Amino acid sequence: MPRKSFEEVLAYTEKSLKWIEAQGLEGEEMKELIDEIRWDYDEHVNPGFLEYRKAAGEDDMAMEWSANGDTFMDLQGREYIDCLGGFGVYNCGHRHPTVLKAVADQLAKQPLSSAELVDANRALLARILADVSPGDLKYTFFTSSGTEAIESSLKMATLATGRHHFIAFEGDFHGKTAGSLSLTSKAHFRGPFLPLLQGTRHVKFGDLDHLRKTVEVMDYVGELPAAIIYEPIQGENGIQIPPDEWIPGIRKICDEYDIMMVADEVQAGMCRTGYLFATDYYDVAPDIIAMAKALGGGVMPISACLCTKRAFEGMFPDPLLHSTTTGGSPTASAAAIAAINVMLKEDLAGKARRAGGIFMEGLNKIMGKYPKLMTDVRGRGLFIAMEFVDGDLGYEVVYEMFNRRVLVSGSLINAKTIRIEPPLTITDEHIEKALSVIDESCAVVYQKHGW
Ligand SMILES: Cc1ncc(COP(=O)(O)O)c(C=O)c1O
Repeated sequence: MPRKSFEEVLAYTEKSLKWIEAQGLEGEEMKELIDEIRWDYDEHVNPGFLEYRKAAGEDDMAMEWSANGDTFMDLQGREYIDCLGGFGVYNCGHRHPTVLKAVADQLAKQPLSSAELVDANRALLARILADVSPGDLKYTFFTSSGTEAIESSLKMATLATGRHHFIAFEGDFHGKTAGSLSLTSKAHFRGPFLPLLQGTRHVKFGDLDHLRKTVEVMDYVGELPAAIIYEPIQGENGIQIPPDEWIPGIRKICDEYDIMMVADEVQAGMCRTGYLFATDYYDVAPDIIAMAKALGGGVMPISACLCTKRAFEGMFPDPLLHSTTTGGSPTASAAAIAAINVMLKEDLAGKARRAGGIFMEGLNKIMGKYPKLMTDVRGRGLFIAMEFVDGDLGYEVVYEMFNRRVLVSGSLINAKTIRIEPPLTITDEHIEKALSVIDESCAVVYQKHGW
């Protein structure tokens, strides 16, 4: 493809800015944008994407355009109930006014930092996180994505302990950059990039005995881990809830061997499970908490690695030993401060518990009606999974739901499960509607298979 002249590219940027400025498009204008985006995806993003997102990529391609509360709208003006919540990003809902205002206030002053002067919002947010979290967690390093929060946690744990090995669990998902991918468990994602970080071990999820024996052997051979990293409830593995003694048991082993206990709260955290942190359910304080997704209030990307003094103090002598230019920017920090304000003021944890109860009751009834299709329903708060007999049947239900304008999605590690993870602000009316769409979609799939 020949390089274009700068005049041509300039003209395309101007056309693009017009599309960004538009509040809505109709007729030929709308068709032109859809055709253009289909071409750009195929030629410049990834041709596999529109095929992968089958439901959204058909002739009448559903392209997202605007969002509000617990719904979003495509360019064609069709409204969808969001039962996916950006995989845990939209806990405060879409475009929450408190978050928008904080971001707009900061945008009007200075969006990104000088990277040299002292940045107020970062400090305010770090203090709020320390005050709101359990135990002695108090110092925070800010980044932008979940995987960066995990990378930071690995480095902090190594600095604190002088060790280089890590333990994670079968079924875990911790991200896809080189360090976090070492801890992610699915061969499909790891295989092409092996060998990753040396000395990582995966242990059976929920099995304390297996964990203890692994640590004992690692101790014997002189390879004690710097950290044990766990998802308090596995998200991408289809909402797997461990036995109640498991997380307190990890704490005990970490204390015995001076290992950093790292909670990956990237998806399960921020009120999603009915608690500010999913680990709070057990009244246990980790040494490090990695958070992301919902921390930015659904408006800005921000992630955080919150540490005890012991876990963080390796960073004191040289605060630039680990750094990133744009992480924890003034605008992103403003969004996070507003997000925590909304979570506390509107009791989003309480809302998640209540709404989760309504969903679970409805889903259990639906499961009883379609035993050849749905085999399990499980969850805590609004972190819920429906498990199907196989991935293809689950996809058929997702497809029917999408056609009825309710968005849900599968899971990266466990293809048989479909997650229900809506904004925690979802209304009762939309819960009822979503449940009736699930029921109807299961009925259509049942009929199609002649059951
Ligand atoms: C538990 C968990 N950890 C880490 C990540 C990685 O986050 P990101 O996609 O923002 O890098 C995810 C993403 O889904 C996640 O669910």
